[in-house]
Amino acid sequence: MTGGAGFVGSHIAAALLESGARVRVIDDLSTGHRENLDEIGGSIDFIEGSLADEGALRRALEDVELVFHEAAIPSVPRSVADPRATHVACVDATFELLLAAKERGVRRVIYAASSSAYGDQPVLPKVEEMRPDPLSPYAVAKLVGEYYCRVFTRVYGLETLALRYFNVFGPRQDPTSQYSGVISRFIAALLMGETPVIFGDGEQSRDFTYVANVARANLNAAETTQGIGQVINVANGERTTLNELLEILKRLTGRADAQADYREPRAGDVRDSQADNRLAKEALNYQTLVGLEEGLQRTIDWWKQSRYAQPNA
Ligand code: UD1
Repeated sequence: MTGGAGFVGSHIAAALLESGARVRVIDDLSTGHRENLDEIGGSIDFIEGSLADEGALRRALEDVELVFHEAAIPSVPRSVADPRATHVACVDATFELLLAAKERGVRRVIYAASSSAYGDQPVLPKVEEMRPDPLSPYAVAKLVGEYYCRVFTRVYGLETLALRYFNVFGPRQDPTSQYSGVISRFIAALLMGETPVIFGDGEQSRDFTYVANVARANLNAAETTQGIGQVINVANGERTTLNELLEILKRLTGRADAQADYREPRAGDVRDSQADNRLAKEALNYQTLVGLEEGLQRTIDWWKQSRYAQPNA
C-alpha cells in the first residue's frame, strides 16, 4: 500500500495484518509518521520512498496483487497555499502508480478518493451519479485520480475502485498542523486548554466518518466483484455542523466552558457535505461499525495517551 504510515493508511495496514495478509508499505513520510506503524506493531515491509522514484515504486510493487493507494497531501487549505505540491503528490503520483501497477500485473488498485469532488452540489445527500464540482486544487487533484482509475480499468483492464471518503477521523490523525482535520484540531485544543478555532459561522456541516469504518470498507473493496471501475461513497451517512461537533466534544472532554474563536471562512471550503451510502452497502457490504459519538470518545481516549499529549511533543 502507498501512504501506509499516514493516518488512514495505518488503519488499513492494521486491518490487513489482522486478516493475515502480508503488507508492504511505501511512504515518503512527508505527511505520515513511522510512529503510526510502530503503534500497530506486526511485521510490515517498509520502503521509505516517493512514488516519483521509479526504483522505489518498482520495488514496492514486486509480487504485489493488490494496492491500497492512500498516499496524498490531504488538505484543502494546503492545496490553496501550494497547488503544485498537491498536484504532484496526488495527480502525478497516482498516474505513475497506475502505470506501474498495470505494467507489473497488479490485479486491483483501491484508490482513496475524496468527498471534496462534490463541492457545493446543492442536493443532499450526495450521490455518486452527481456531476462533480471541485472547489479547490485538492478536490481537482483527487478527482483527476478517480478519472485515471476509471480509464485504466476501461482501457487496460486494471481493476480499480475509487472510494470517496467523507471527512475521516480517529486515532493517529495528526493534530499538529494548521492543515490538520478539524476533529483532531478541536480535541487537541480542548485537551490542552486552548481555544478551538472555527472558520466561518460554524454552521457548515460534514459527514464525519470514523476511520475503522473506512478501513473495513477498503478490505471489503479488495474482495468485491461489484463497483469495479466505479466511484463509491464511504461515509457515516449523517450530517453534523461544526457548532454541533464542538458541543459534543466539549461534553466528552469536560470542557463545557470552552468558547470558539470564530474567524474568516477558508477559501475553497465546501458548505455542506453528507453522503448517500446505498452503493457502499450494496457493493462493499458497508456498515457503520462505529458511529460519531463512539468514534469521538475513542479518539479522545487515544489522544490522551498519545505522544501529542506530552509536553513539547
Ligand atoms: C476535505 C474533504 C474530505 C477530505 C479532507 C482532507 C470535503 C467536504 N471534505 O475535508 O473528504 O478528507 O478534505 O483530505 O471537501 N475547520 C475549522 N477549524 C479548524 C479546522 C477546520 O473550523 O481548526 C473547518 C474547515 O474550514 C471546514 C471544516 O472545519 O469547514 C472541516 O475542515 P477539515 O477537517 O480540514 O476537512 P475538509 O476540508 O472539510
